Amino acid sequence: MARDRKDYFYRKAKSEGYRARSAFKLQQINKRFRLIRRGDAVLDLGAAPGGWLQVAKEISGGRVVGVDLLPIEPIDGVTTIKADITAPETLELMTEALGGKANVVICDAAPNLSGNWTLDHARSIDLSSSALRVAKEVLEPGGNFLVKVFQGDTFLDFLSEVRENFRRAQAHSPAASRKESAEMYVVGQGFFLPPVKVGDVLDLEIVGIGKSGDGIAEVEGFKVFVPGASVGDRVHVRIRSIRSGHAVGAVEAPEALE
Ligand SMILES: C[S@@+](CC[C@H](N)C(=O)[O-])C[C@H]1O[C@@H](n2cnc3c(N)ncnc32)[C@H](O)[C@@H]1O
Repeated sequence: MARDRKDYFYRKAKSEGYRARSAFKLQQINKRFRLIRRGDAVLDLGAAPGGWLQVAKEISGGRVVGVDLLPIEPIDGVTTIKADITAPETLELMTEALGGKANVVICDAAPNLSGNWTLDHARSIDLSSSALRVAKEVLEPGGNFLVKVFQGDTFLDFLSEVRENFRRAQAHSPAASRKESAEMYVVGQGFFLPPVKVGDVLDLEIVGIGKSGDGIAEVEGFKVFVPGASVGDRVHVRIRSIRSGHAVGAVEAPEALE
């Protein structure tokens, strides 16, 4: 069955002029999540041979930039860069090629597989974390992110990290992925840079109450939920977590601040 599926998408890619069967994964993901829209600037990390670049260009028609360690055969209207996405100096090359910010960052980069599950997972998380770092640098507020990750022990930690900067983040496995494969995609929608970070202690006024009864304070329009606090309270709050577009904090007793 898996073999038939592989052959089906392989033949379909050939007949429709795509360079890789993975083109259908991006089509399927985009149909469901609408990550790329007409006119978007798209950055594709780990882009060779270029199947995703072809699809991204078709959907957006806008600026599309692809980066890979390997050279990529030219695609009309697409800029390609031969570089390592994990190297800090690559960031400047990408921003220059984009000529500004990106609306969408997609990453299908994969390490060379060793067959050792733990090692392959760790390398994959390294690549995905680099993609997240790049996304945080280049995305417009409200932008979208798609990244491949091989499943393993730290998958959920990575998903939590993505949640710190995207209003919605979830794991997804498209139908065009091979059944036996360990690969998953993490989809992040609605990029934001929170004005607070975990561990910050802030002097806040509670201005509202959430559905579950938690106090709500705001920092530059960003909601901080504070369990146990009531409207009108002025409290010192330590930020405990940030996810899905808001933070949760805990009231610090005055002696804990000294
Ligand atoms: C599965 S392929 C991408 C396929 C592509 N989405 C397509 O549709 O044609 C994974 C790519 O990640 C690239 N890659 C792996 N590590 C990389 C790194 N550190 N920097 C840049 N590219 C990398 C590999 O060279 C490989 O071309």
